[in-house]
Amino acid sequence: MRRYHLTTFGCQMNEHDSERIKGMLEALGYEEARSRAEADLILFNTCSIREKADERFIAHLHEAHALKRRAPETVIGVGGCWAQSLKQEVFAEFPFVDVAFGPGQVHKLAEFLTSDSLSAQGYFEFEGFTGHLPAKRARRYQGWVQVSVGCNCACAYCIVPSTRGREVSRDPDELVAEIEQLAADGVREVTLLGQNVNSYGRDLPRDSRLTFAELLARVDLVPGIERIRYTSPHPKDMREDVIRAHAELPALCEHIHLPVQSGSSSVLKRMRRTYTRERYLDRVAMIREHLPDCALTTDIIVGFPGETDSDFEQTLTLAEEVGYDGAFTFIYSPRRQTEAAEMDDQIPHEVKVARLERLVEVIQRRATERAQRFVGRTLEVLVEGPSRTDATRLRGRTRHNKVVNFDGLADEGDFVIVEITGATSQTLSGEMSLLARAAGR
Ligand code: 5AD
Ligand code: SF4
Repeated sequence: MRRYHLTTFGCQMNEHDSERIKGMLEALGYEEARSRAEADLILFNTCSIREKADERFIAHLHEAHALKRRAPETVIGVGGCWAQSLKQEVFAEFPFVDVAFGPGQVHKLAEFLTSDSLSAQGYFEFEGFTGHLPAKRARRYQGWVQVSVGCNCACAYCIVPSTRGREVSRDPDELVAEIEQLAADGVREVTLLGQNVNSYGRDLPRDSRLTFAELLARVDLVPGIERIRYTSPHPKDMREDVIRAHAELPALCEHIHLPVQSGSSSVLKRMRRTYTRERYLDRVAMIREHLPDCALTTDIIVGFPGETDSDFEQTLTLAEEVGYDGAFTFIYSPRRQTEAAEMDDQIPHEVKVARLERLVEVIQRRATERAQRFVGRTLEVLVEGPSRTDATRLRGRTRHNKVVNFDGLADEGDFVIVEITGATSQTLSGEMSLLARAAGR
C-alpha cells in the first residue's frame, strides 16, 4: 500500500481541493500516512497570499527534502497558488520537487501519478489566479477508475517501467460493477485511468478478454454515466475502433489526449516510442476524418538528449500542423534508472528553456485559433462551481474538456447549456442559455 501525506495551507478553496486530492489518491489505492516520514508521496497544497505564508511553507518543504534524501524514492508534489505563481521556477529553485500543479488541477495530479507516473518534473498550468472563494461541496459527480497498472513500454526517458512493472488489467466485470456503484452514488462523469489505457485487456484471460473499445462500450451502457473520459492512450495502440467509439458512444467525450513527445522521427526512435512522425500524423488524420470537431491535446518533451536544432524544428512544425487544443510541455529531466539519463549529448538547461518558450508560443497560438470554432455555438457544460476569476460567474467544463466561465445560475454538478461568446487558448467564456438541456441521452 502506497501512502501519502498532504499538508494544506491557505483558504477554503485549498481545503476543498485537498479533499478532492485525498479522494482521488484513495481511489488510486493510496492510504493516508500519519506522518510525512511514513509517506511515499508528500504533497503540499500551497498558498501565496503573503510572504509569511511562503516562508512557512518553504520550511516544510525543506523538511520534506531531508526525508527524501534518506528515502530517494519519495515523491514530492506541490500544488496551489505558490506553485501557480512560480511555475517552472519551482524546479529550478527546488530541483527535488517532482510535480507541481496549479490550483484545482487535481485531475492533472491523477494523470501525473498514473500515466507517465512520477517520471517527469511536470508542471500543470491552471488558467487563472484565485484569491478568495466560498467553500464548495466535494465533487460527488466526478469519479476516477483505474483500469490497469504498470506499463509494458520502454520509453527511454520514463521511470515507470522500472518502478511499476508489467501492465496488469483489471477484470472488466469488476470495473463495470465499480462504475455502476459510482453512478448510484451520483457520479455522472467517469475518467478511466491507466499508463497505457488503450492496450487494456491484452493480458486478461481469454474468457474475460475485452478490448479497450469494448470496455468503453460497456461503460457507456451504465445508466447515469453521462460522460466518459480516459487518459492516457499511447499513439502506437490508438486504433480505429477506439476512434469510432468516440463517434458512436453517446457518453464518450469529444476529447483525445494523444501524447506525441517529439515531432522528430529520429528523437522518437531514441525515445523508443515505436512510431514515427508520419505514423503519428496518420493517427491524427484518422481522428480528424472520423471526428472533425474532437479536441486533441498532447504531451511534448523538449531537450531530450541529442535533440538538435533541426529535431526541435520538427517538433515546432508538428505542433503547427496538428493544431492542438492544448498541450503539456515538459523540459526533459534525467530520471534515475532510465536509458536516456545515461545518454551522451545532454542538452544544456538554457537551450531547453529557450526551446520550451518557443514551443509554448506555437501551442498557445494554435490553441487560441482552434478555440475560435466554439464561439457562437451552444455547448453542454457540467458545472463545477463559481468561476475562479470572478465569483459572480460560474465555471464548468465542456465535453471537449474546455473550461468555460459563464454568467448564469446553476448548481455544481448540473448540466447546462452555454452560449459561447469568447475563447482564449485556455478558457471559453459565455452565457447560460435558458434552453433546457435536452433531457437524458
Ligand atoms: N522528462 C520530461 N518529461 C517527461 N515525461 C515523462 N518522463 C519525462 C522526463 N524524464 C512527460 C511525458 C509524459 C508526461 C506525463 O510526462 O511527456 O507524457
Ligand atoms: Fe512511460 Fe512510455 Fe509507458 Fe508512457 S507508455 S508510461 S511514456 S514507458
